[in-house]
Amino acid sequence: MGPTITTQHGRDSRTVDLARGDPGADLLPAALVRAAADRVTAALDPDLLQYGHEPGDAGFRAALTAFLEGEGAGASAPARLFVTAGASLALHLICALFASPGERVLVARSTYHLALAQFRDQRLRVEAIEGDADGMLPEALDEALRAAPAALLYLVPAFANPTGTTLPRARQEALVAVAARHGVRVAADEVYRLTGFAPVDADGARVPRSLAALGSEQVLSLNSVSKILSPGLRLGWIEGPAADLRRLGSSGVLRSGGGMNPFTAALVGEAIASGALRAHLARLREALRERHDALVAALRADLPDAQFEPVAGGYFLWLRLPGVDVSAEPTRAALRRHGVRIAPGTLFAADVADAAGGAAPTAPRQREWARLCFAHGTSATLRDGVARLAAAVYELRG
Ligand SMILES: Cc1ncc(COP(=O)(O)O)c(C=O)c1O
Repeated sequence: MGPTITTQHGRDSRTVDLARGDPGADLLPAALVRAAADRVTAALDPDLLQYGHEPGDAGFRAALTAFLEGEGAGASAPARLFVTAGASLALHLICALFASPGERVLVARSTYHLALAQFRDQRLRVEAIEGDADGMLPEALDEALRAAPAALLYLVPAFANPTGTTLPRARQEALVAVAARHGVRVAADEVYRLTGFAPVDADGARVPRSLAALGSEQVLSLNSVSKILSPGLRLGWIEGPAADLRRLGSSGVLRSGGGMNPFTAALVGEAIASGALRAHLARLREALRERHDALVAALRADLPDAQFEPVAGGYFLWLRLPGVDVSAEPTRAALRRHGVRIAPGTLFAADVADAAGGAAPTAPRQREWARLCFAHGTSATLRDGVARLAAAVYELRG
């Protein structure tokens, strides 16, 4: 066994966990949050303890707009931002208000598994659209929409979970154009967009533009501080057309509970104003780059026949282990024996509808794939995890 690894939630402390999708404890800036909270509470405005303005405080939305522009994330406007309690809650609201039970949501073949869980909660029918190396195919989307209407197109356009890939600009535009032609709203889940640590396009940009900035009135971009600051703060935002944001603001949940997380927004606003968030994000990107490079180097050394593409941002590498059925019990047992966890590709598989409109079985080709997270462990932990993974794979192959 390698060194003792500290994990949360009481998991086996000797197991290296490459399956989770959250930042490691050393990337969660407790001092930043404490300093911001101290400043907010030192001269506490009682208004902050009141129900919040439905779309979020105007001052916070202005600060967020400036922050995003400063990070190279493109220009928006406070009136196009709506504060939420994270991207998950944003998706929940969008489904509740813009889709009815039984309607279809179109997704990529491998996509964020917990968005799929949310669609199921909302009694929506999920259907996967075929893609190629650049992501979802506009022609396949068009064909699916000609066959039957859909309420939503769900995309993870930047540094996706689980694949780590970013839709090229031309592909984004083509997909949004198809959705707009069919009058389908696009929910673009962009929680990793600000984590870019290497150029993502020919212009050298590290932060892909939001899909909502494409100019189409069809797109709602979802973002949050979960992957750039802290998931526990539960703060996010939707960027999109003012009419849709007004509709969200007039929903029962907002009318009853007021704007979401006004106190936390004030705290994050303080971290923006002091420059602390910007400095943290720079450090985070550097840490992600270093960990990504360590994971890539370890995989190349220990598992030379594993197939993957290095990524330019996000938290994940999407890995193919030829000849290994990652979710089969013998594989799981070998991984347990060697003390390493990875997320099997089948977890993220959405089904393609068959000709009768039912779900076709999960594609067997996804069985050899796995998602590895490089945000949670340090470079040393990642190297240890890959050594354990390689030992398990070689044992399985005899
Ligand atoms: C693609 C994607 N969307 C949303 C979330 C959750 O976001 P939030 O914490 O803002 O609800 C995650 C977290 O893993 C994610 O990977």
